[in-house]
Amino acid sequence: MTWLITGGAGYIGAHVARAMAAEGESVLVLDDLSSGVPTRLPESIPLVHGSSLDGRLLKRVLAEHSVTGVVHLAARKQVAESVAQPTRYYQENVGGLATLLEAVAEAGIERFLFSSSAAVYGNPDVDLITEDTPCAPMSPYGETKLAGEWLVRAAGRAHGIATVCLRYFNVAGAAEPELADTGVFNIVPMVFDRLTRGEAPRIFGDDYPTPDGTCVRDYIHVADLADAHLAAARRLAGGAAGDLTVNVGRGEGVSVRELVTLIGEVTGDTTAPLVEPRRPGDAPRAVASAALAERELDWSARRGVREMVESAWRGWVLHHPEANRG
Ligand SMILES: NC(=O)c1ccc[n+]([C@@H]2O[C@H](COP(=O)([O-])OP(=O)(O)OC[C@H]3O[C@@H](n4cnc5c(N)ncnc54)[C@H](O)[C@@H]3O)[C@@H](O)[C@H]2O)c1
Repeated sequence: MTWLITGGAGYIGAHVARAMAAEGESVLVLDDLSSGVPTRLPESIPLVHGSSLDGRLLKRVLAEHSVTGVVHLAARKQVAESVAQPTRYYQENVGGLATLLEAVAEAGIERFLFSSSAAVYGNPDVDLITEDTPCAPMSPYGETKLAGEWLVRAAGRAHGIATVCLRYFNVAGAAEPELADTGVFNIVPMVFDRLTRGEAPRIFGDDYPTPDGTCVRDYIHVADLADAHLAAARRLAGGAAGDLTVNVGRGEGVSVRELVTLIGEVTGDTTAPLVEPRRPGDAPRAVASAALAERELDWSARRGVREMVESAWRGWVLHHPEANRG
């Protein structure tokens, strides 16, 4: 098989591309480099500079490289930006996906893996979120991921494409320092950023109905997430038909306060956090049931939260040498 990985120069995509290549899969990447970094990829992985919105380019790339499966990660992913620019998010995340699926169907490709998100669930009042928990996204970003899943399944049924939608929970860490997340949109880099500036980390709300009053999340190491893609790709390559939608998390909750304390231990900077008011739209608790992934993909996470923070910190220091004051 030859896999096209869209968004493969991004934080998660580069981990996926490298993990699949390391296991002997033939992969190539398509990325518009809007937030991707080409040096995350080794020279052995071909990189096509282009957009998932460019149908002609997609058709040419799929044919020229005899692509037989697609892993689609290319998307815009910032919740606040999606609130400010909903049409752009629908155009790029849903429109780009529709253009890609059209090219996939025309090329007769029968395997498709879609990068979805726990954002599809919104704010469910459950201990563990299963794949049957009703979806009620709370941002245009989450809506585009849910609409994307519907589109993937509908195209799969119409064109005989076997599909997998992976709903990632909170992704953190790096397999190698140079692959680290360079954006400051998730909690781990946000806390690193505050500490590097000599400012106290911020906790938004400590009066939630959780054990220590701060929000509880399920963190997944990006290298484990890459392994989940490999497992899903192998399932598709092995002839699995129909569609599968599955959570990718550890099934364990960690509170924001616990995470900030751990970051203090790892970085050696134990500046006490500032508690600020709640942010609108933050769910008190979002923890995956990881049972279906284990059953269907024979996959479960192996790396813990300390390993995520330590590896993320090594990456942060590489990109922000001023952070390593010790
Ligand atoms: N990081 C997370 O915590 C998280 C959680 C859930 C889901 N996701 C999803 O995972 C995927 C990858 O996220 P990431 O964190 O690696 O973000 P990222 O911004 O690092 O990666 C996205 C990549 O896609 C590329 N891209 C964007 N739009 C494109 C387009 N139209 N055509 C071609 N390339 C395009 C970017 O240049 C970038 O390389 C996204 O679909 C995101 O929604 C991420």
